[in-house]
Amino acid sequence: MPCDRLSRRGFIAGSACGVFTLAALGLPGDVAALPVSEIEAQGNGNERKYPIPSADGASIDRASQVILVRYAGKVYAMSLVCPHENAAVRWLPKDGRFQCSKHTSRYTPDGTFTSGRATRNMDRFPIRKEGAQVVVTIDRVFQSDKDANGWNGANVPA
Ligand code: FES
Repeated sequence: MPCDRLSRRGFIAGSACGVFTLAALGLPGDVAALPVSEIEAQGNGNERKYPIPSADGASIDRASQVILVRYAGKVYAMSLVCPHENAAVRWLPKDGRFQCSKHTSRYTPDGTFTSGRATRNMDRFPIRKEGAQVVVTIDRVFQSDKDANGWNGANVPA
């Protein structure tokens, strides 16, 4: 089962730590040159709808704090907030990975933790397909250390 998302206070605190200062976001290795864009969601309440990305890349919905990633045939919706102490994560184009802006924890394009102070992967939102859109539930996240199966399953085919 997905875990409750950060409290509103924690969420705002995370924002103050720099969530809105993301300078660049993109994807690694063979994906280093992939496009990064900003998107706005449709929907309200606890669900956000986005068109299914037509190509590999990352899209940022700052208002909803969602990173939508299409990578290796799958689409993921991940939190902008680092799971360690809620700082912002950003994309480092030259290194082809996500990195936390506070303590430099590193993550692959699908949010897998590789090094640093964090103790789990980037949190993933529940996601499902509806026609040509993906629907992301933003009031819950899967935490990889508490629900590995949920976290692993939080994606849809591109
Ligand atoms: S807040 Fe991200 S590694 Fe500490």
